Amino acid sequence: MKIAIGSDHAGFALKEALKKHLVKEGHSVEDFGCGSEEPVDYPDVSKKVSQAVAEGKYDFGILLCGTGIGTSITANKVVGIRAALCYDKYTAEMSRAHNDANILTVGGRTTSFSRAAEIVDTFLKTKFEGGRHERRVKKIREIEKNG
Ligand code: RB5
Repeated sequence: MKIAIGSDHAGFALKEALKKHLVKEGHSVEDFGCGSEEPVDYPDVSKKVSQAVAEGKYDFGILLCGTGIGTSITANKVVGIRAALCYDKYTAEMSRAHNDANILTVGGRTTSFSRAAEIVDTFLKTKFEGGRHERRVKKIREIEKNG
């Protein structure tokens, strides 16, 4: 799959580890920064990744900040994005199966690498169930469009 990934300084270390993991799993990964643990503002990278995913250039986006909250809030401001902050295998699975999430956010300061790898793998392999969930996602799109 084509994955866009990005982080702020608090998610940098986990981003680097996840990039290696994703490549090992056979995915193509584009890194939108940041490039070190030097402080940056999470909305900047979150916006870049979210716009690229919304434009259809990537299958999914992955965003990391300290808690995953700031990147999630920012990503969900971009039209077409359904970003989910996931903290275990179950929430990762549900975010895809029920919410058709197209961006995963994870907390670099709250999530171990092994847990994050499990979350990412589950998120990427789980298909949207559709059916009654399609109706609900459609309602999200309507709110996005009409308020
Ligand atoms: C940075 O200190 C921290 O606030 C940020 O990474 C993130 O957790 C925000 O939601």
